[in-house]
Amino acid sequence: MSKLTNGISMFILSILILALLVMIVLGFMLGIGHPLPWILIAVIILIPVIHDKIVGKRFVKWNDSYSVGVEDIDNDHKKLLGLINQLQTAAHYSSDNDMIDTILDDLVDYTKYHFSKEEDMLKQSGYPHFDEHKLQHEAMIKKVSEFIEGYKADDSRTIDDVTQYLKSWLINHINGSDQDYVPYVKKTIK
Ligand code: FEO
Repeated sequence: MSKLTNGISMFILSILILALLVMIVLGFMLGIGHPLPWILIAVIILIPVIHDKIVGKRFVKWNDSYSVGVEDIDNDHKKLLGLINQLQTAAHYSSDNDMIDTILDDLVDYTKYHFSKEEDMLKQSGYPHFDEHKLQHEAMIKKVSEFIEGYKADDSRTIDDVTQYLKSWLINHINGSDQDYVPYVKKTIK
């Protein structure tokens, strides 16, 4: 969803709530016992609940099956998922580019920090697919940097392609490639 579309959706939602409020006031003129204003009140209460449910579906959630058995690394992965959710929230509710840029920078910095820590751990464990794993990390940083450069160069571009890529890459990587090193790392930390 582009910034413009997002802004239009929020505007329409605000107008709808305002119209409902007016109709509730008018409805009460029909009498306190009339069902119409009470139905409208129920609708107005349900709107934010439904809205949050729709928005909430876009968030990524930690699942214990993602665990690699190393608390420090699991905490990094949780932190990265949290930063992606922050980015998504900022993109949905705010048009403040500085806030989005700050979260993007934090995400890239923390991802680099995590990759470097994980690579040290994999080296120490003698993981046989270390080079391939490091290449995946490098390719991800390159791709995200390209997305961000494109986003910063064109203010009207949506951040959604970055968040979609990050969500899908991170979940697939944590739940795929990162799981492959678990037996090797577990031997080292015993
Ligand atoms: Fe946890 Fe290979 O990144």
